[in-house]
Amino acid sequence: MKKFRDDFLWGGATAANQFEGAWDLDGKGPSISDMCTNGSHTNPKRLTTTIEANTLYPSHEAIDFYHHYKEDIALFAEMGFKTFRFSINWTRIYPTGMEETPNEKGLEFYDNVINECVKYGIEPLITISHYEIPYALVEKYNGWYSREVIDCYVRYAKTLLDRYADRVKYFLTFNEINSGTMPMGAVLSLGCVKGVNAAMNEIPDEPQIRYQGLHHQFVASALAVKYAHDNYPKVKMGDMNIFATMYPLTCNPDDVVGTQRAMQMMNWFCSDVQVRGEYPYYADRFFEEKGITIKKEAGDDEILKNGTVDFYTFSYYMSNCYSADPDKQAGKGNIIMGIPNPYLKASDWGWQIDPKGLRYSLNEIYSRYQIPLMVVENGLGAKDVLEEDGSVHDSYRIDYLRQHIEQMREAVADGVDLMGYTPWGCIDLVSASTGEMAKRYGFIYVKKYDDGTGDLSRSKKDSFDWYKKVIATNGEDL
Ligand code: BG6
Repeated sequence: MKKFRDDFLWGGATAANQFEGAWDLDGKGPSISDMCTNGSHTNPKRLTTTIEANTLYPSHEAIDFYHHYKEDIALFAEMGFKTFRFSINWTRIYPTGMEETPNEKGLEFYDNVINECVKYGIEPLITISHYEIPYALVEKYNGWYSREVIDCYVRYAKTLLDRYADRVKYFLTFNEINSGTMPMGAVLSLGCVKGVNAAMNEIPDEPQIRYQGLHHQFVASALAVKYAHDNYPKVKMGDMNIFATMYPLTCNPDDVVGTQRAMQMMNWFCSDVQVRGEYPYYADRFFEEKGITIKKEAGDDEILKNGTVDFYTFSYYMSNCYSADPDKQAGKGNIIMGIPNPYLKASDWGWQIDPKGLRYSLNEIYSRYQIPLMVVENGLGAKDVLEEDGSVHDSYRIDYLRQHIEQMREAVADGVDLMGYTPWGCIDLVSASTGEMAKRYGFIYVKKYDDGTGDLSRSKKDSFDWYKKVIATNGEDL
């Protein structure tokens, strides 16, 4: 039976705006995430058009990786990381997104981070855009809704490739690009929120704008991929999707067909474009029924065809159920959508824990695309208790990860070509959905709290040594 590859990329994942801090240092401009206040599971964070005095913006300091990167990467190396997934903060390189030349100080920071990884034999895995569109592009263009943003992104992506391709082999063009198929994606992913000052759950949704924005992201991604392929043959370019597995709530054919259709637009639509190089057959009917018209320019179809990705990556946290019965649908979903599965338990944040769903998803994705896959986010957001001696006994996190790795192992035995695994928030960081620090994922505890206090010191949780053993045994000893 097949096992994890010898060169399996064990590691961890982060995003710049959720852990770097230093939001306005060394020439950095504000990104969409810098305009988001903190919040909680029950009290949504807010998007503001200006920085309000006396309001906490969690990205501004976050866990200050900007000044702790050496210490943090040394801890990753101690766990035995083979790869480290991080994103580049677009506004560190192009503060408004519109400059002609990049900010050298920003480029230098990532030179340092990359060199530090290389020093320990850690392969950097870079997300080019992870919920960090420059806020100036939101103000000027309504974010990705405007075609002009394609050029801004391509200039930025080329800058990164030209600067780092000698040391970096893996790039992902957009984090969770398919979040743009959901209302929440209009904010962090697409930045189509010009002039909006509102709580996250009160931002008006305009599907026409979202899908047009997504089209521009597809074109931009394909242009970046083509540039990398033409100029840096050793570089591998990946897509990145939220894979929110859906099951029919019952075997009623209405539930089964409804689930299939929901899966098409939620989970497959973006990757069908990015992996296969064209809009999928089922998209026309969806757009027609929703009254959405995608404006394409001559040449767009060819660009998509010529810019397909080399590997497929995804985040996996949970699964959901679908019902065609409107009474069951209304108001019962958790964060993404769908109905709770009666066979599963959920995290404190209502995310349903479904390790077997990961094996199922890996098989579904691989059977569709047959290119290498990588799980670039997975993990349990939980409240941790820091003991007086600095320890954290996070057996619940170890259980969650163990069960998911077991199912990855099953999928590999099934024949899925899996390249690697980077659990989310390998060091505690700010939650993307709520802005909290209390929702922790890390192997490394960071003393930083929701009121902004904390000395930012780092300590190892029990899961730190456990994950070290997992890596050392290439996933044999869980
Ligand atoms: C993914 C994002 O959706 O989930 C990350 O790519 C995010 O940015 C992660 O942090 C976990 O979500 P949350 O809301 O718990 O931080």
